[in-house]
Amino acid sequence: MPKSISIISSVLLFFYFFLSSFQLTASEFQKSNPSFLGKFAQKIQQKPYQYETKYYTQTLDHFSFLDLPTFQQRYLISTDHWSGPKELGPVFLYCGNEGDIEWFASNTGFVWEIAPRFGAMVVFPEHRYYGKSMPFGSREKAYKDSASLAYLTAEQALADFAVLVTDLKRNLSAEACPVVLFGGSYGGMLAAWMRLKYPHIAIGALASSAPILQFENIVPPETFYDIVSNDFKRESVSCFDYIKNSWEAIEAEGKKADGLSHLTRTFHLCQKLNSTDDLSNWLSSAYSYLAMVDYPYPSEFLMPLPANPIKEVCKKIDDHPHEAGVLERIFSGVSIYYNYTGTVDCFDLGDDPHGMSGWDWQACTEMVMPMSSSKHNSMFPAYDYNYSSFQDQCYKDYAVKPRNRWITTEFGGHDLKTTLKAFGSNIIFSNGLLDPWSGGSVLQNVSETVIALITKLGAHHIDLRAATNEDPDWLLEQRTSEINVIKEWINIYYQEKMTVLSM
Ligand SMILES: *[C@@H]1O[C@H](CO)[C@@H](O)[C@H](O)[C@H]1NC(C)=O
Ligand SMILES: *[C@@H]1O[C@H](CO)[C@@H](O)[C@H](O)[C@H]1NC(C)=O
Ligand SMILES: *[C@@H]1O[C@H](CO)[C@@H](O)[C@H](O)[C@H]1NC(C)=O
Ligand SMILES: *[C@@H]1O[C@H](CO)[C@@H](O)[C@H](O)[C@H]1NC(C)=O
Ligand SMILES: *[C@@H]1O[C@H](CO)[C@@H](O)[C@H](O)[C@H]1NC(C)=O
Repeated sequence: MPKSISIISSVLLFFYFFLSSFQLTASEFQKSNPSFLGKFAQKIQQKPYQYETKYYTQTLDHFSFLDLPTFQQRYLISTDHWSGPKELGPVFLYCGNEGDIEWFASNTGFVWEIAPRFGAMVVFPEHRYYGKSMPFGSREKAYKDSASLAYLTAEQALADFAVLVTDLKRNLSAEACPVVLFGGSYGGMLAAWMRLKYPHIAIGALASSAPILQFENIVPPETFYDIVSNDFKRESVSCFDYIKNSWEAIEAEGKKADGLSHLTRTFHLCQKLNSTDDLSNWLSSAYSYLAMVDYPYPSEFLMPLPANPIKEVCKKIDDHPHEAGVLERIFSGVSIYYNYTGTVDCFDLGDDPHGMSGWDWQACTEMVMPMSSSKHNSMFPAYDYNYSSFQDQCYKDYAVKPRNRWITTEFGGHDLKTTLKAFGSNIIFSNGLLDPWSGGSVLQNVSETVIALITKLGAHHIDLRAATNEDPDWLLEQRTSEINVIKEWINIYYQEKMTVLSM
């Protein structure tokens, strides 16, 4: 049993696992889950926001002077509402994360919606090794081995953003225009870190759902799964209990003669189950993703889902005749996540969690985030994080050894409050406490200008999503606070500039 959680934790990082498998093997994925891909493709094609797509010739290794090939970094740009260089119109820069930048652009409505009010230009640079921004000319070559993947690091990505925006501003004679950073999830981590590393390039950062403390022992390793579990428990204690008891039931069933076939039929799987761990992983992923996208209105971020999806899942799990078995209940619950549209013929577990997806590499090098599942509070199988077995797995997969202390050495994290109070400024850490990643994020005000804006009922970077008619008051308030703080950063910057000019 324990194995299951360890496998998830390496791939679960940021909900984009589905997205990246979609990109890598679009045709395969289409076969297995047409409804999802269909919706998705439609969304991308619709291009809800207007922008130009451009490419910038980027340095492969910012930290050596080797004569290496360059690569084409994609970026999306809109200057439609920009008030221009004379007015010192701001640049809103979204720090692209681990996926296709068009997908982030279409799911970050907040930035597009507020840009006109600020007379801001909007730029979405893509993260290297994702989407169309592939070193060495193709995804296949970029992901060939540990030597070709060596340039896939957060430091290189930040340097890409810094170099790109500096060059862009120079081209537009906009050197004096202030840059404000935005980002969600890993992109939020990048936004916060970029403000700290490049304060001369960006005047502030809105880092939404950015778990910059999910490293080493800064937060307890149980945090993530405890939050997911509490999200279910708050909807229904019996639902939590059914899920908690289901792992043993699945394992027991798997041990029976013909048990794996029975599970295959019960869960409508396309292929015969080889091990109960595969099924448990698939279920665990659904619960974790549900906690991330537990939005109060219907959404199609990861999957088409109803409003308050956890409530709906628990209704399904609870709402059976008394004598119904736990497996039957679990199946109907998880179908909300994987088959809400009712158009999936059978479920394919073959999403290959150990495939060479970019985040797996990052998790095996810098982004080492320990995660355990506690025996008592968690509804997941109990599991103690084991760093040495994690290292072994990374070595097997990529022939690399993770450096679990590097992130805090490079960016800080331990005793963050004292450090940032002394030297940091102009960062908003926004979080919703339903989001399992909020546990590893900054939830306290650090200083006057490094602040935490929290909502009790928010999920994964809901504040960055486009406005809807169903937005609750707490969300409107959070966004208003963010807008006011950003306004203040810009005003102070303008005042400083004026003073300098008039001197
Ligand atoms: C700036 O202009 C140069 C010359 O036209 C071009 O090669 C480069 O890509 C531009 N930079 C950006 C960020 O677009
Ligand atoms: C089970 O194992 C076989 C052979 O290794 C493989 O082809 C098949 O895809 C596996 N089934 C699942 C559901 O992973
Ligand atoms: C998906 O939902 C539809 C409609 O309820 C159902 O007919 C179909 O069997 C479901 N697919 C799976 C894989 O369970
Ligand atoms: C951790 O994993 C290693 C194998 O990599 C194993 O030898 C060790 O016993 C495990 N430790 C615990 C506490 O389970
Ligand atoms: C941080 O300070 C701001 C005011 O600057 C306040 O609105 C917010 O609620 C504070 N956050 C926390 C977590 O106390």
